[in-house]
Amino acid sequence: MRYSTSSILAALAAPLLVSARPVRTRAASANDALVFQFANVLEQLETEFYAQGIAKFKDADFTAAGFSSSLIASQTLATIQFDEATHTTVIQQTLKDNGAKPLICKFKFGSALDTVTSMAATARVVEYVGVAAYLGGAVLIDDPVFLDAAASILTVEARHQTVLNIMSGTGSAIPSAFDIPMTPQEILGIAGGFIDGPCDLGLKATNPLTVTNKDTVKAGTLLTVSGTNITGTDGLFCNMMVGGAPFSINLPLDKCVVPEGINGPVALWITSDNNPLVNNVVNRATTQQVAGPAILFIDSQPEMLGQLVRSSKTGGGASSTETTTITPDEASKIIAGASSTSGAPSSTKTAAGKDGKDGKASTDGQNGQAAPASTPLPPDFKGKSPDGKTTVDGIKMVPRPQANASASSGASSSGAASSSAAAPSATK
Ligand SMILES: *[C@@H]1O[C@H](CO)[C@@H](O)[C@H](O)[C@H]1NC(C)=O
Ligand SMILES: *[C@@H]1O[C@H](CO)[C@@H](O)[C@H](O)[C@H]1NC(C)=O
Repeated sequence: MRYSTSSILAALAAPLLVSARPVRTRAASANDALVFQFANVLEQLETEFYAQGIAKFKDADFTAAGFSSSLIASQTLATIQFDEATHTTVIQQTLKDNGAKPLICKFKFGSALDTVTSMAATARVVEYVGVAAYLGGAVLIDDPVFLDAAASILTVEARHQTVLNIMSGTGSAIPSAFDIPMTPQEILGIAGGFIDGPCDLGLKATNPLTVTNKDTVKAGTLLTVSGTNITGTDGLFCNMMVGGAPFSINLPLDKCVVPEGINGPVALWITSDNNPLVNNVVNRATTQQVAGPAILFIDSQPEMLGQLVRSSKTGGGASSTETTTITPDEASKIIAGASSTSGAPSSTKTAAGKDGKDGKASTDGQNGQAAPASTPLPPDFKGKSPDGKTTVDGIKMVPRPQANASASSGASSSGAASSSAAAPSATK
């Protein structure tokens, strides 16, 4: 039901409106109206982003991007799009109920929608922006009923973000015990580049910040940036904020090196002094902010869950947005490096075709094992696998965790193959 066309979607959303929208008998405060107007714009952005992506990409694009099944991507994206469209409808109705006219904006997504990989990577950032926005917006809401309603949206945005972490293939599903709140101005600084034409919320966006590193960003990487009022590095400081930390890590911009131990989202600001930024939106200094935040994902602890979903990587997808710098090949190198040092389960390889794009074996949904490495199946093979345990029906095999990784099969794309070669069996 969730994977439906937009006309059915509208019919479904109508009854939801009745139950989901916060009902008030008195007028919303100016603060509450602002937060809901802001949420309205963000939800429109998300709705439009997924609608365009879903319209553009076909099943073959998702499998080419390395998804074990195109349904993993298409079902998930349709579900998320449905949620965002429903949020938009309900928030706009709430604004109308309270005498406000919902702002309607236009959006442009440019290269973010070039490929499935760039779309998935951008969606991961967009959903984190949603989480950060509702978190930061919460402190502005006067009416507890509206706060409750906003929180009920926040939890769902966080669910979306988790699934997109998994769909990246390289990220931890739940990388941190805490998220990072951002002010509406900071959110606009990140999302403003997607807004096309007038969309005046009456808020001044922070200066956008672009991370310019071309290679994988990981522990030890010197971050390089560009943005308004950033010329050289003199007198400038970078601030890396992670969830749960009370302050940002503040370093001179010319020594802005990602430290060890970070996993998952990092919010990056450039400031004009060496006072770390506070990790709450109430006390965070604004006057020293020169640009940012930008959101980057440091995927230092890849998980089996992601590898199951995105079993092979192809070189086709470039990094997506200004703030997402991890390409599939680079991500594979991270997987190799991390699994050889961290004790994380090493990835198991399928015995399907010679390269990941053509690999089309499938398990029958049992706890099946890959066919023995010595007998790789041809790409379009159908029938029983050589060990008789697996029915192969022409779809790519999902690699599964197993005690003994058979590391030497001839499987997978070049990136995954290097990960296989470099990753000794590190399972405990
Ligand atoms: C750039 O820096 C100058 C000097 O500090 C400041 O007056 C100006 O407002 C800054 N511009 C932006 C867009 O932040
Ligand atoms: C796993 O490895 C252990 C130790 O090398 C070996 O004794 C065992 O037979 C292996 N199990 C399988 C299923 O290959």
